[in-house]
Formats: sequence, C-alpha cells, structure tokens
Amino acid sequence: MSLLKRASAIEEEMIAIRRKIHENPELAFKEFQTTALLEKELKSYGIETRRNGDQTGLTGVLKGAKPGKVIGVRGDIDALPVPEDTGLPFSSKVEGVSHACGHDINCTTVLACARLLSELKDELSGTVKFIFQPAEETLSGAASMIKNGVMEDPKMDAIICVHTWPEMPGGSIGVRRGAMFAASDRFKITIRGQGGHAAHPHRSIDPVVVAGYLITQLQTIVSREVAPLDSAVVTVGKMTAGTASNIIPNEAVLEGTVRTLNKETRKRVHESLVRIATHTAEGLSATAQVEYVTGVPPLVNDDFLNDLVSAATVELLGEDNLLEVPVASMGSEDFAEYMEFIPGAAIRIGTYDERPESKGALHNSKTVFSEKAIMAGAVMLTGTVFKFTGSDFSKLL
Ligand code: NI
Repeated sequence: MSLLKRASAIEEEMIAIRRKIHENPELAFKEFQTTALLEKELKSYGIETRRNGDQTGLTGVLKGAKPGKVIGVRGDIDALPVPEDTGLPFSSKVEGVSHACGHDINCTTVLACARLLSELKDELSGTVKFIFQPAEETLSGAASMIKNGVMEDPKMDAIICVHTWPEMPGGSIGVRRGAMFAASDRFKITIRGQGGHAAHPHRSIDPVVVAGYLITQLQTIVSREVAPLDSAVVTVGKMTAGTASNIIPNEAVLEGTVRTLNKETRKRVHESLVRIATHTAEGLSATAQVEYVTGVPPLVNDDFLNDLVSAATVELLGEDNLLEVPVASMGSEDFAEYMEFIPGAAIRIGTYDERPESKGALHNSKTVFSEKAIMAGAVMLTGTVFKFTGSDFSKLL
C-alpha cells in the first residue's frame, strides 16, 4: 500500500485525537493528560515509550527491522494562557487556556508519523525517536528533555520538527535554508548614581539621566555595529526608577531582550551592550552593572536535512505543496537546544484554509487551523525518515 493510502486510512482517527487534545489544553509542564494520551497511543502502535524523568512529555522509540541511522522527530505539546474564542464545536474546555499556537496539531502530526512508521517497521532501517516535548512556550521543555537523557540511548544523528504556520495553505510544507529562528537572550542593567534632592542635581549623580542616554545609545548596536543585511533586535522592555517627582533616586534599572540569527552577531551584540552600558555610565560618573542571561540559541537549519525534506515532499505530496519560508523569524524556538548537539531542521506545516480566521496570527484567541496539515506533515516526516535512514523509499510510492 502507498504511504498516501495508509495516511488517508488513518486520517479521521488522527483528527479525532487532535480534537481531543485541543479540547483539553494544558500549560507548560502541566501536560499530564496529553502525555498519558500520547503514551497510550504509542503503546497501542507497539512503540516503546519513555517518560521525561518526573516531568511531563515523553519519547517513543521505534527500532526498524534493519540497522541504520537514528533520527529524532519532535512535536511540542503545551498550550497557552489564551482563552479560546473560535466557536469550534471542540473548543477548549479549560477556562483561559487554549492551543492557540497549534501544538495540538504539531504533536498529532508526529503521532501520525509514529503510527505510519510502526506499520512500515519491516521496511525501516535504523531507529526513530518520537519526542513529545513539554513547555515550548516557556522555552524550557527542550532543556528538560535533554537533562532527562533524550539525547542518549541511542544517540541521534539528526532531528527534525514541525510547527503550524497560518501563512501557508493546509497541506503544504514550508522549508527554509539557513536561519529560521532567533537566539533569545535577556539583560538587566543596574545603573547606580547618587540620590538627592531634585532641585540640586549638582550634588547628585542622576541614574535616570544615564538610563535615558542608554535607552537610545543601545539602539546604535543594531544601526551601527550589526551589518545592514544581518538582523538583530535590542529592546528595552522595562525601566524602573525613582519614588517621587522631587527626588533623584540612587538607582535605575533597565531590562530587555536581544534577538540575533547567528552566533557571531549574538556574541558581538552581547559585548557591545556591556561596553556601551558600562562606559556611558562611567562618562556620566555613574556605574552600570550588566547581567546578561543567554537563552535559546539561534536555530539554523541544516542544508542536507532541508534538502531531504524538500525531496520527500516533492516525491510524496507534489511540487505544489513545497513552499519556501521567505524570511526567518526573530521569535525563538527551543528546538534549537537539540541542535547544539546534532544537525536539525525545523519545518513549517501550512494551516490556512477557506476560513478567514485560519489566516490569523499564532497565539490569537480566534485563529483556527486546517486539519489537512496533520497527514501532510506526517507523510513528509515519514518520507524524510526513510530518506535519512537509507530505507527503501520505493516502498512508500
Ligand atoms: Ni508554538
């Protein structure tokens, strides 16, 4: 039987599972029911399962009949603190929580791939790890899975993932060469001056004025130090200072985020931020102490994997369903954490259809998703696994 026939035979069942997950959304590290449901399904396909330590999330391990390479396929499972307002009959039953980012679709797509590959086990060379990751929205789930041993036993040679995308039609696959998501780092600058009476500034060192200079000077990092065709963001999102209009405070604090698309720029922006903060403060007789917290790394897709995904998509779903994601996102994706160890590729699955609300933004309470994405994504993943492990691809046609 062709892979497309197998896929259409299980589509209805997979959509029912997606709707069940959609109705019962769970926030980061609270995905207890979702984990249990996925575990039960994987077991029913004869796939070995492993829990993510004592945290939510799990991994399914499927060994093919023949030896070969090991590939990971990751879907995230957490929901958002967004009340659902879609009017769908299977809307969230949980007050204030919904799958507004489509992680119900992502994990069902990986589950459908697991089901298809379990049926094709005799044709499979190598091993597949199905990684159902919690807490993507808080950018902390990948780290928890790595800490709990997901990279080991067996070690993976590569990893791929899917994510819904409302800017592409349901049934299409979106790939991108190179940078896909940005690194996300945080900073906190504590400026110390000397407090005093607002009417006698010459007897004080005003940290509020230093903060004012800094907010604008930090923007010169992007405009003057990052190459015009590279991308970076420096945003001061929070400023705290003072208690009253007639008092110069001792201290002012700036907090913000830095986004970059490659490791060199990431390092450069970090160094520049520290340099500008400390020397600007010094020039104005104050001091600035910078706390810089590095978060998720930049996500740069592997060319070889990207080509495999493209080839599998064209051969199984047709050329029309392969689309190029035109630009990287300055948002972040903690899938990049796994890619610190092994090559990877993040793939978009298109989710718009004839409903106007399906073209809405991710994280919006009204956005709906085309369920065509599930089997299209599962077919693409299955084909990519076959290509990567060197299994006989003709068995899928
Ligand atoms: Ni998401």
